[in-house]
Amino acid sequence: MMDLRLLSALGALLCVCCSIEDGSAFTFKTFTGTEIATTAISTTVVVERPCECRALCRDACAAVAIRRQSRSRYRCSFTGQSITDTSTGTDLLVRAPDSRVFYKRQGCRPNFSLVDNVGCIYLSTVKLNFTAAAASCPSGSQLFTASFLIDFDAMRNYLLKNYLSSLETAWVGLSRTSNPKTWEWLGGGTIPSIQPSPYWGKYDPDGATDCPAMHYSLSAGYLYHLADLACGDNLKFLCKQN
Ligand SMILES: *[C@@H]1O[C@H](CO)[C@@H](O)[C@H](O)[C@H]1NC(C)=O
Ligand SMILES: *[C@@H]1O[C@H](CO)[C@@H](O)[C@H](O)[C@H]1NC(C)=O
Repeated sequence: MMDLRLLSALGALLCVCCSIEDGSAFTFKTFTGTEIATTAISTTVVVERPCECRALCRDACAAVAIRRQSRSRYRCSFTGQSITDTSTGTDLLVRAPDSRVFYKRQGCRPNFSLVDNVGCIYLSTVKLNFTAAAASCPSGSQLFTASFLIDFDAMRNYLLKNYLSSLETAWVGLSRTSNPKTWEWLGGGTIPSIQPSPYWGKYDPDGATDCPAMHYSLSAGYLYHLADLACGDNLKFLCKQN
């Protein structure tokens, strides 16, 4: 029990930048490589950490675009307008390679659970190897990815609260890159693979096995932290609605 409390205190410290707001009962759909059309922007603000943009998207805000301006400056552009075509967002969004738009939404498809600050999540009933799992997420979803550390921590907390030790291991959407110090989320964004890490369990990635799973092992200090496992193992998997 000691381990559990220490580690969750550490997690709280690491995400102190943008703690998850009480009662924020919405999740975001992400449009990578897009910006909100200039005519639709209501206000903009410059912040130091990208996750602040999302925390600032409050009541009247329907979507926020986050664009990097310099090493430690991000511009958040807010809009109150809804996207009518949520598959492409084309009526409100314009292409911008260095920008991402987070669009608020409510509700999930059948068999998906709404996880605050994460999205709509599906936990498979079957166990498959990594390749088969990646190809088996229900249509309109893909293996779980996290845009920020707070998303990852929110996912860990959800699994701890709902499954504790009963799930143990589930594949997620991350892959090794040619750089041994970096792993990449499917669809973009990287996380470091050097220790100590808020993402990885302390013995991973070990370089020996190559597919990523969220793993629970209290004795090893893994509270649904990442472990790299043999890609041929048959495990349950987590999918996130696009
Ligand atoms: C939801 O899951 C149940 C049980 O696995 C399955 O029978 C049902 O077809 C699923 N519904 C949808 C819409 O996928
Ligand atoms: C994964 O499972 C699929 C379907 O069962 C199988 O065809 C494939 O050979 C397996 N791949 C590995 C790497 O085990």
